[in-house]
Amino acid sequence: MTINIELSPFDLFDKWYEEAKEAEPSDPNAMTLASVSVDGKPSARIVLLKEWDKDGYVFYTNFESRKGQEVLATKNVAICFHWKSLKKQIRIEGIATPVSDEQAQAYFDTRPRMSRIGAWASMQSQPLDKRETFEQRIKDFDTKFDGQEYFPKPPHWSGFRVTPENFEFWEELDFRLHNRFIFTQKDGDDWIAQRLYP
Ligand SMILES: Cc1cc2nc3c(=O)[nH]c(=O)nc-3n(C[C@H](O)[C@H](O)[C@H](O)COP(=O)(O)O)c2cc1C
Repeated sequence: MTINIELSPFDLFDKWYEEAKEAEPSDPNAMTLASVSVDGKPSARIVLLKEWDKDGYVFYTNFESRKGQEVLATKNVAICFHWKSLKKQIRIEGIATPVSDEQAQAYFDTRPRMSRIGAWASMQSQPLDKRETFEQRIKDFDTKFDGQEYFPKPPHWSGFRVTPENFEFWEELDFRLHNRFIFTQKDGDDWIAQRLYP
């Protein structure tokens, strides 16, 4: 077992992701997203990685949710993948910025109709008095967009692109004697890999 540090961290991510797609029974694109509030309190939850390239890693969410507000306010995030079946972990720390409305709408249009209705109906992270209130909102938006195959995304629903400042690749070895490398960039130049004690 070894981590191929000849590859750029973006290419190494892609290589491991391809392995995860084969090995993970569900949601290989699930990642923990950690955000931080303006008063420095961290919070974490799972989101799904939907698009990625050399510019960063994109997830979609409600910008009025707890995470949405925190990410808009402080921009600093960490994401973490753990693929149990591969015994591998990738950590990325970086800066999150909203994607364009065009990019978000293009992704929104690929979602099943009821997921799109749900994005309108859910006031994510707000108190909900009872399930029926949510179900009524779902009905109302379903009626509002009745007969429309495509309709606009909610203004408060979009994506964040996480531009990496560093990557860490970790693979499990026997007796907890793991391999671990952190990649950082010096002055916007090539990525440098540094081995870390596990
Ligand atoms: C497998 C899985 C995938 C999820 N994907 C997303 C996602 O892509 N976007 C999202 O907003 N919430 C997603 N969630 C729900 C979040 O974990 C979280 O409950 C929700 O976004 C509210 O978080 P917040 O109150 O911290 O903003 C997912 C949850 C799980 C378990």
